[in-house]
Amino acid sequence: MENFEFYNPTKVVFGKGQIERLKDLVPKTRVLMLFGEGSIKTNGVYDQVKNALSSHEIIECGGVQANPTYEKAMEVLELIKKEKIDFILAVGGGSVIDTAKFLSLAAFFPGTPWSILTNREQTYSKALPFACVLTLPATGSEMNCYFVLSRGDEKLSGGHSLLYPVFSILDPSVSFTLSQKQVGNGVVDAFVHVLEQYLTYPAQAPLQDRFAESVLKTLIEEGPKSYSRLDNYEARANHMWCATMALSSVFGVGVPQDWSTHQIGHELTALYGIDHARTLAIVLPAMLWSMRNEKRQKLMQYAERVWDLKGSDEELIQRAIRRTSDFFESLGLPTKLLSYDLKENPTEKVIARLLARGFTPMGEKQQVTLEKVREVLEFAKR
Ligand code: NZQ
Ligand code: ZN
Repeated sequence: MENFEFYNPTKVVFGKGQIERLKDLVPKTRVLMLFGEGSIKTNGVYDQVKNALSSHEIIECGGVQANPTYEKAMEVLELIKKEKIDFILAVGGGSVIDTAKFLSLAAFFPGTPWSILTNREQTYSKALPFACVLTLPATGSEMNCYFVLSRGDEKLSGGHSLLYPVFSILDPSVSFTLSQKQVGNGVVDAFVHVLEQYLTYPAQAPLQDRFAESVLKTLIEEGPKSYSRLDNYEARANHMWCATMALSSVFGVGVPQDWSTHQIGHELTALYGIDHARTLAIVLPAMLWSMRNEKRQKLMQYAERVWDLKGSDEELIQRAIRRTSDFFESLGLPTKLLSYDLKENPTEKVIARLLARGFTPMGEKQQVTLEKVREVLEFAKR
């Protein structure tokens, strides 16, 4: 096992009716309530939050889009400065929470805020405190310190240990109004978060492996129930907690990680607007196939322990990858690029962008070269 530090100070308040806890959890300061494009107004979450905070001074700001933009964040930053905000309450999915995280750093940042995303060497000593009311189980942003923001056709990620939410309220019932597509996306995003921390090479970390396998198995059991009946509380509760755990670092510590599927996926979203999780469903099976020799031992472990498969090595690996694709497809996510009506072949564009960012080679052993990316995208087309 590699050396590691584990730090996750986010308080999670989970369950039905927990939004009313806001009245005690939110400090009596100048609070910005940040939200998306309106789902919280139609599903009652807005009213629940406002009622809970009836004795607080709240400044509201909506309009954060899915795949949130830098431009919108800059608009909100002005408001934060003008209104002298000292606490942000993000009410929504990953896009709203990620915007709050960026703002939290940008509020005290003396330079050009975009450089928070382009220059990872910068140091920060202060961030605006923020908290979340989660409405969509997928990204894990509610209990981690990462964020993703877009500007034009750039989609970049950042992170800092100052960016853990102070608390997150997770009431699965507020996600009943999600569409089936969003629920399927949420299960797959969480599933791939686990795989990017698990499917590398053995690192003598059996606890991390078993944590990861337990989340994968739970998503395989509960994900389809959460997807097929949108108001199934128990299934959604398990889906939601899995998604939170999947990217909260508990099993990513002390082990190698491989975020190449996400890195390629972010380019596909930036170029073609394909939903985040849907890009992962396209890239991951092709990546596993392309890297099957490098990931051989963990793929076999995955096949045996997660999918309960038995057989010869090559057969095990092939069947595990097939089961993974079938799982994504069963949740409504296509696993082939052909299913999207792209007007061009994305391969060379994606490669050029990864190269320009200095992201390659990627993967746990830096073996995902540009050649491999080409192979993955060509395979994903078929
Ligand atoms: O804007 P509103 O009207 O609220 O509608 C949203 C949005 O259109 C809607 N929605 C949210 N909760 C709802 C609801 N509709 C009905 N009922 C509800 N209860 O869902 C749509 C998608 O929301 P969004 O927040 O964009 O989805 P998600 O949570 O999947 O977040 C995706 C973003 O997170 C980034 C992605 O790249 C993408 O930008 N990620 C963030 C990560 C992190 N911070 O750790 C990791 C991930 O890998 C990912 O990259
Ligand atoms: Zn993701």
